[in-house]
Amino acid sequence: MITDAIVQLFRDALPKGRVTDDQELVRPWTNDWRGKYHGDCAAILSPRSVEEVAAIVGLAAEHCVPLVPQGGNTSMVGGATPPADGTALILSLRAMNAIRSLDPSANLIVCEAGVILQNLHEAAEAAGRRFPLSLGARGAATVGGLISTNAGGTQVLRHGTMRAQVEGLEAVLPDGSILHGLSALKKDNRGYDLRHLLIGAEGTIGIVTAASLRLVPAVTARSVAWAGVGSPEQALALLRHMEAALGDAVEGFEVMSDEILTVVLSEVPGARRPIAGTAPWHVLIEAVTSDPAKDDRHGNQMEDALAGAFQQGKLLDATIANSEGQAEALWKLRESVSASEKAKGPAMQYDISVPVTSMPAFMIDAKRACEAEFPGATAESYGHLGDGNIHFHVRPPRDPSDRGAAWVASEGETVSRFVNDLVVAAGGSISAEHGIGQMKVAELARLASPARLHAMRAIKTAFDPQGIMNPGKLVPLAT
Ligand code: FAD
Ligand code: LAC
Ligand code: ZN
Repeated sequence: MITDAIVQLFRDALPKGRVTDDQELVRPWTNDWRGKYHGDCAAILSPRSVEEVAAIVGLAAEHCVPLVPQGGNTSMVGGATPPADGTALILSLRAMNAIRSLDPSANLIVCEAGVILQNLHEAAEAAGRRFPLSLGARGAATVGGLISTNAGGTQVLRHGTMRAQVEGLEAVLPDGSILHGLSALKKDNRGYDLRHLLIGAEGTIGIVTAASLRLVPAVTARSVAWAGVGSPEQALALLRHMEAALGDAVEGFEVMSDEILTVVLSEVPGARRPIAGTAPWHVLIEAVTSDPAKDDRHGNQMEDALAGAFQQGKLLDATIANSEGQAEALWKLRESVSASEKAKGPAMQYDISVPVTSMPAFMIDAKRACEAEFPGATAESYGHLGDGNIHFHVRPPRDPSDRGAAWVASEGETVSRFVNDLVVAAGGSISAEHGIGQMKVAELARLASPARLHAMRAIKTAFDPQGIMNPGKLVPLAT
């Protein structure tokens, strides 16, 4: 248990205003975004500099105080939620939100861990550049959280995940030492790549305090389209068609079932069905150019490509946004899926990948298998088909009395084992984007190979022998 005396140690070691123990202010940060996990925590520590983070971690190491690093707390897997028994303190990076430098000529921006993604986008844009990673939580998710989950989003197809954007990293290791690695070296072969070890580590082997991030030229024109297709297989054929026609201008290619779209339309005020006809599956396509010389032809190319796809039977119907407002309205349908699904009540959600070419069949087969195995339940998918990554949701049988909460509580683990076994059988991963957090630790322990588990535990122990960095997350304990 964290005693008042422990909290006082941190108060004494830090400048005024860095320790919050007012439970009215602490409590909102002890629950996860989806409302599945509820922690308890005596205080939040909010450092303003890397030296203050080092002081906190050093003190935590000396007194064996567990720390839960937290950015925007948008984790989908309870990764930033403290344990329910009150045995850890939250280390919030939100106050470390400075942009330390931006060099357009080097296409680099150095951000502290607490910089919110939306602010990073705006800073890059103001300098005539772009940060090429975006996701629905961009108004709250932070650089530190994005790095620590190796977040994906809707531009991975062309630009890769967060790992591909991080050119350098500054971090505090579990003994309180500072790892200085912000200089963006193109080549560096000093053995183990600590930067890449910290990316996706979910706060279990250190605290990310700042990063050098890659920028790309600003977009000069974009076209956004919505297409109805008959199946995930047709959706993938459409992606390949668009890539053949538009090359690497195709940046976004997001898929959702008609049932998912219907949920969004019922939850988002003013939202409208984008195409007139019915279609069992929908695709949102974005193509961009950064070459002003190509701006004029850009929209026509999208139109020609879609017309060609229609003639070849690769889509049922399509519409192209003819203003920025319409483009934003289409993206809003896509980016509102998580919040809309959440509003519909409890469900089991999976964030999975299989090889891209296997994904269309997987989507159909997994839905059929789940619905047969769990009578009355419905399974739907949406997401990043071109990355071989979808979000697969299993909704309980209709039960107006508790909206399915009891079913999730009693059947949830069985459903998880069933879905994850399908994923493993298809050669896939049980976490393509959101990480393991606390939600998937047991399944990782069940399904990961002995070699992977052994290596993960050895790395964790080498960095964090006392186990004070985000305990209970990511790394399954040895049995
Ligand atoms: P938090 O939730 O605060 O933390 C996430 C993890 O990182 C935790 O384990 C935490 O302990 C650790 N952590 C946080 N900061 C640090 C730090 N400075 N140093 C060390 N560890 C740290 N994810 C995707 O990949 N793609 C998507 O498209 C996507 N869409 C989303 C849409 C919505 C509406 C929401 C709510 C979430 C979405 N996510 C998506 C989940 C995604 O993981 C987060 O949005 C983002 O990566 C987390 O950032 P955060 O600052 O909120 O981190
Ligand atoms: C998305 C989040 C949930 O793709 O990863 O919407
Ligand atoms: Zn996603």
